[in-house]
Formats: sequence, structure tokens, C-alpha cells
Amino acid sequence: MAESRVNSAEILGSDLHLELTRAGSRRTALTSALREAIRGGRLAPGTRLPPYRSLAADLGIARNTVADAYAELVAEGWLTARQGSGTRVAPRIAPPPPQRGGGRERGGPRAAAAPGTRRRRAAPAPRPTHHLLQGQPDASAFPRTAWLASARRALTAAPNEAFGPGDPHGRPELRRALADYLARARGVRTDPDRIVVCSGFAHALRLLSGTKVLRPALAVESYGLAFHRSLLSAAGVRTVPLPLDAHGARTEELASHPGLRPVRAALLTPAHQFPTGGPLHPERRAAAVDWARTSGGLVLEDDYDGEFRYDRQPVGAVQGLDPDRVLYLGSASKSLSPALRLGWMVLPDHLVDALLAAKGEREGWASALDQLTLADFIESGGYDRHVRRMRLRYRRRRDALVATLAERAPHIRVSGIAAGLHAVLELPPGTEQSAVQAASWQGLALDGLAGYRHPDATTPRWEGLVVGYATPPEHAFPAALDALCRALPPEQPPPKTGG
Ligand SMILES: Cc1ncc(COP(=O)(O)O)c(C=O)c1O
Repeated sequence: MAESRVNSAEILGSDLHLELTRAGSRRTALTSALREAIRGGRLAPGTRLPPYRSLAADLGIARNTVADAYAELVAEGWLTARQGSGTRVAPRIAPPPPQRGGGRERGGPRAAAAPGTRRRRAAPAPRPTHHLLQGQPDASAFPRTAWLASARRALTAAPNEAFGPGDPHGRPELRRALADYLARARGVRTDPDRIVVCSGFAHALRLLSGTKVLRPALAVESYGLAFHRSLLSAAGVRTVPLPLDAHGARTEELASHPGLRPVRAALLTPAHQFPTGGPLHPERRAAAVDWARTSGGLVLEDDYDGEFRYDRQPVGAVQGLDPDRVLYLGSASKSLSPALRLGWMVLPDHLVDALLAAKGEREGWASALDQLTLADFIESGGYDRHVRRMRLRYRRRRDALVATLAERAPHIRVSGIAAGLHAVLELPPGTEQSAVQAASWQGLALDGLAGYRHPDATTPRWEGLVVGYATPPEHAFPAALDALCRALPPEQPPPKTGG
């Protein structure tokens, strides 16, 4: 039996000349030889490699060694593996990264730097052709015509005083429109006087950092946007990571965890944990509010993409549970565009004056004309229509992502798909960095989870890719998905069973 297996392995497949001259393990020597053959052009894009058992027989090495070497090269983007068409040399969208001195085989691993802070500065990565970076709605879908119509109406109707120095509170027209909209669509309890307009969530954080609200320390979720953490620490606010699991932030620990004792406020993403994607469990919503009530603390609710829910009834705002203890922060960045720089804070009564003082004498950030336009856009129904249209579009993309992965990478689990503009592709331990690198070699820009992790987090480390499926324009989405599939690590080969 053993002999016939060896014979068939010798007959099947195709010849591939490789010299395993490199010192080190057989696997290292084989991956080096294959990279060299691809880099030098001897193995052209699309070339089918021999099945690993035949190459193993030819080279006189173990099958698992070849399987591991192929898997490593797939993860790095040199090879692709598809059911039914075997392992092939990957189409080279971008050239492999330049070799560094000292005969180093691979470019240094991409540092897991803060998403949102490093990617536009990262040095040698080729210019991406495909974009699945989270954080941006489909820019090609901005409702230009409807927005223009609102701008025209708003400008025509604006009183003369709207063209004078602005009130830091925000235009009353917008605050009225927001109070109605947020109550209807997000379950927020407020009146227009408790709303302060700002230029987005980041601005709200900056303003809050200038008050006593976030002192002496702010609890943040163990995974979150590093840009926000940097902004807070630059403003002198110490952030303490709140453990996270599949049910969201472990808010019950706010009251019990010794490390969280100095905390007086907690920043949460209850509708859709950012970036891991689950909603905060109802008991944990209640626990956060209970903690705030009993400790005199505050919950900061970041409702960055609350409008985009696909599978269930919308998850309403935690703010509705206690408007005096929950500070609701909203933004037009996901629903319309981050270019607008418009956001809103729904404040407990006792904080309105402090935030107005933090803004200063006059409105210095949010243009009165944009505010008036947004007010008209909301009141005329344009905002609802746009959100509903985009919800449908993103839902279709989400479905396409899930279906494509089920077909081409069934071993990869997708999570965080019930809402929002991004999903997380869960990866086996030790593969995230090479998957991000493989993506970059496929010309695909996306982030791994590592850069979102709070540096002091003690919560278990998750590995995964954060896929912003809303980002590309409609026509570019299929190609981005294809590049994504090429970058994913293959299924681990089953353990060797002897013979
Ligand atoms: C977690 C999170 N919160 C809030 C926002 C909104 O930020 P901003 O309003 O500053 O654009 C974003 C990005 O859109 C985000 O990813």
C-alpha cells in the first residue's frame, strides 16, 4: 500500500526544479526557494504548483512540510489556494516588497500600529488598489442632489442673523430637527436645549477632555479606535481598558474591578461594539447605567453607526434609559460623510453649560450653513431616505461578503455582521499579521484587530481582519472582495495521521 501511494505521488503532479540550499529547516529552505522562483519570474503568475504530496515525494521531504510551506506562502500572498483549482502563483497586483539588506527573506512585518494614525504614513507598502479599510461610508453615494436641494432651501430661508457669528450651542433649526429625529429613530430622550452641535465625535471627545467629566480617568473598551485613545491621552485623559467579550464590554466590572476604581466615566459603543461588532448585552446596558447612578459617574455613548442595523430591530440608545447619566454622542460621519464634520452631543442638563464654555464664545467649528442644510435634510425626509437606501446597499454587500467567504474560505468565521459598515474575519492565532501583509501585496488596504487593542488590555487577544465593506464604490466592491479572498490564510492542513 505504502509503495503504491509513493508511486502515485511520483507520477501525479508536475516537475518543479527547486534547490533547497538555504540553511535551516526544510520548510524554511522550501519557502525560500519558492519565493525566489516567483520573485525571479521563473514561476509566472497563475502557474499551478504540484500537489504537495507529489512535490514532497520529488524532494524527499514530508508532506506536511510542503503543506506548511504552501500555507505560509498563501498567507503572505505569493500563492493562492482555491478548492478545485489547486495552489497557484498569485497574480501580482503589486510588486513584492523590496528586500532589506543582510539577505533577509521577508520584509519586516507590518507594525501593528494604530489604525487611523499610521496607514497613510506607512513606508514601503505599495499604493493600494482596493480599499476595505473601515471608517468610511461609500463616498460615491453621497446624496449630492438631495443635499444641494436642502442647501438651496436652507440658504433661501435662513434669517440674516445666521450669517453672523455663530452660537456655540448650534443652530436652533438643527437642534430641533435632531431632537425629533433622535427620539424617533434612536430612542433618545432630549429637548433641543440639551443638544450641543460639534464637528464630529472626535471634537466632542476633545471638548469633554477640557471639562472635569473625564477625570481622573476614563474607562474605554479594550478594543477601540486608537486615534481616539491618542486624542484623549494628548489631552491628559488617562484611559483604563474595560474587559470585553462576545456580549460587549463587561460593564459590571465598572463597580467591582479594582483597576477601574478611579474611573468616573465610561466610553461605550453599545449599538455595535467598535470594532468587534456585537451589541452590548441588555444586562450590561443596565449595569452601565446602574454604575453611573450609584457612583455619580457618566456613560458616554458613542452611537457612530446606530442607524445601520440589518438583521434585527434597531438597538435603541442607552441614553433612553437615563438621560441624566448617559451622554449621547452622534455624528454624520457614517450616515453621510466624514467630510461634513458635523456631530452632536445630547447632554445631561447639568453639563450643558460646561460644554458650552468648553466651546467658547462663538461657534468656531461647525458651519452654520451646513447645520441649516442638515436640518432641512432631516426635516424634508432626505436623511431617512438616504439612510434607508444605504442600509439596503450595505446589507447587500454584507451578504455578498458572507456568501463569498462561505464559498471561497469556509474555514473563516465572520462576526459583527448584524450591523454597521464593517465586519470582522476571525483568524487563527498567529496569522493576522501575515494576512494583513498578504492583503497589502494583493493591493488591498485593510486593518487587523491588533492596532485597535488598548495597550494595557488584559482581555484575551483576538486575531482578525476588520473589513470595511462600505468603503469602496459599488463597481469596485467585487474586485476588493476577490483580493480579500486571495489574501486569507488557507485552512490549516489536518494533522498527519501516520502511514
Ligand atoms: C468608533 C467611532 N466612533 C465615532 C466615529 C465618528 O467620528 P467623527 O464624528 O469624529 O468622524 C467613528 C468614525 O466614523 C468611529 O469609528
